[in-house]
Amino acid sequence: MKSVQLHEYGKPVTLVEAEPAPLGDTDVRVAIEAAPLNPSDFLTLSGRYAVRPPLPSPVGGEGVGVVTETGAGVTAVRTGDLVLVLPNPRPGTWQEEIVVPERFVVRADPRAEVTQLATAGINAATAYLLLSYGELREGDWVVQTAANSGLGTFVNALAKLRGVRTLNVVRRADAVVRGGDAVVVSDGTLTEQIAAALAGDRPRLLLDGVSGPVVTELAAVLAPGAHIVSFGALSQQPFTLSTPHLLFKNLTVHGFWLNNWIAAAPREEIERVYADVTALIAEGVLRTEIAAEYALADYARAIEHASAPGRTGKVVFTR
Ligand SMILES: NC(=O)c1ccc[n+]([C@@H]2O[C@H](COP(=O)([O-])OP(=O)(O)OC[C@H]3O[C@@H](n4cnc5c(N)ncnc54)[C@H](OP(=O)(O)O)[C@@H]3O)[C@@H](O)[C@H]2O)c1
Repeated sequence: MKSVQLHEYGKPVTLVEAEPAPLGDTDVRVAIEAAPLNPSDFLTLSGRYAVRPPLPSPVGGEGVGVVTETGAGVTAVRTGDLVLVLPNPRPGTWQEEIVVPERFVVRADPRAEVTQLATAGINAATAYLLLSYGELREGDWVVQTAANSGLGTFVNALAKLRGVRTLNVVRRADAVVRGGDAVVVSDGTLTEQIAAALAGDRPRLLLDGVSGPVVTELAAVLAPGAHIVSFGALSQQPFTLSTPHLLFKNLTVHGFWLNNWIAAAPREEIERVYADVTALIAEGVLRTEIAAEYALADYARAIEHASAPGRTGKVVFTR
């Protein structure tokens, strides 16, 4: 079984021929059809992520595949089901197959293309859950950073369904934002661009995956009582908030990590969220741009492509 493996944090991965993993009573074996290369995978490889499996370890945080075997105690899925493999403490979707506890698999809508389902486990669910903050009403504005990302595209589509408007912040003028109501660039004129785009309105929710100075700037334009949700730090910098903004505007700051939700949410809620998002993917309402598909054997090129700045869309391993 082909398996992309990490032997030392911060060092290149290798492709090995690995023995199939043993199956426990509550485990599920999944033949992987498609798995994306996400920013969180690269953080894991560098050793700077909250997921730090013992080494050597297979890698790949999410994917989609077909159940080929179930342990005697498994009740959630059956052999032959198309399932998402959700992020869990033992990654390994950049392999031909993975064995995971049943908690980390959930049925996917079989009408959808597998390359589209590949990013449903993390980004589609995260976008769905992020929009539950801030008690948004129709017509409200949400502002989001890294807006041309896969996650940002999902946020725009889901916000539109609810009649919520999105202000999209990108770091370069040629970034392609899909969906959304306005686009601004985080250069020296950000505040002026926002004033022109919002014409006096103020966002009630800031969704941030970049961190650093852009958050400080965006906090200044938020509505009183607004919420800030931090879900990533692509800039690798911390953010600061002006104390007057925080207290006079009564801002609320949240941290969000999908893995925490998967660990704590009741099974019914997990199944409901994934049934909703995979149905929206099957219907074409949620769509990820796919930059390229690679076979596992071509892992080095896939990693190089996924790490390159200015890429448009997701790089995905497919069978
Ligand atoms: N907390 C959670 O549970 C959770 C769940 C899902 C995603 N996330 C996070 O959400 C973010 C987006 O993920 P994704 O999979 O949607 O990404 P993606 O589709 O792979 O796109 C990467 C995005 O990051 C931007 N970017 C990269 N480095 C940057 C920097 N130094 N400053 C500003 N922007 C930068 C890119 O901009 P360019 O196009 O200009 O290169 C692009 O918009 C990541 O931080 C990811 O870890 C968090």
